Amino acid sequence: MSGSLLSTHGLSAGYGDFQALFGIDVSIDPGEAVALIGANGAGKSTLLKCLTGLLAPTSGTVQLDGESVGGLQPHRLVERGVAMVPEGRRLFAGLTVEENLRVARDHGRRSAVLGPDWTIPRVQELFPVLREKRHALVESLSGGQQQMVAIARALLCNPRLLLCDELSLGLAPRVIAEIYEALPTIAAQGMALVLVEQDVALAQRSTQHVYCLLEGRVTLSAPSAQVSREDITRAFFGADHAVA
Ligand SMILES: Nc1ncnc2c1ncn2[C@@H]1O[C@H](COP(=O)(O)OP(=O)(O)O)[C@@H](O)[C@H]1O
Ligand SMILES: [Mg+2]
Repeated sequence: MSGSLLSTHGLSAGYGDFQALFGIDVSIDPGEAVALIGANGAGKSTLLKCLTGLLAPTSGTVQLDGESVGGLQPHRLVERGVAMVPEGRRLFAGLTVEENLRVARDHGRRSAVLGPDWTIPRVQELFPVLREKRHALVESLSGGQQQMVAIARALLCNPRLLLCDELSLGLAPRVIAEIYEALPTIAAQGMALVLVEQDVALAQRSTQHVYCLLEGRVTLSAPSAQVSREDITRAFFGADHAVA
């Protein structure tokens, strides 16, 4: 598709003999926020791994700016503007909050296209706790605070596209709200977002487009504002599932 930032075309992938994704076509426009929903094991994280170069597709392509990026290493994709907040956060234990942020800043890219670069002071403004706790070891932080470090670390790479894998997992509602309230500020810079999210209502509210995966296939692709609960239920559980 012309004009899209990142897209996949007939993408299949798996682990050894196990096929997890079957002919996936998705597309994200510059500045667009897209939700990726689906039950546990549907293939959401696997798709993100393919989009960030962590997993090579067995067939099909991933295109960035209309150009195939198949086989590019993850750090090359970061240089091209694709960053991820991975499931489970994967911070550098044994380092302080500020040290975690400095590593990201020193390995990030400078933004040629989007607004002002993300800096450590700017991410501290977005999440003030990152300043308050800057000398604390990351493992001493709460889950929500660690998630903020993980988001800040991805932002310091100055991505054009930020992929977030289950930001809200295991967090208290108040913390989830705080994190999601920061997303419009992040997106205001023109960054595109992919949100893998279990909370479907939250996913819909926070995005313009929603994709649903079911057992490795796309079962729904529609504007977020236009999908009904019934559409979602069908896409989540399959056509045979009785709608409650
Ligand atoms: N490292 C792995 N090795 C083997 N199978 C995996 C691995 N990671 C995920 N899977 C399998 O791939 C399928 C999709 O998993 P995943 O992409 O993690 O789903 P989701 O993120 O939607 O919960 C599941 O059946 C899961 O068990
Ligand atoms: Mg997952």
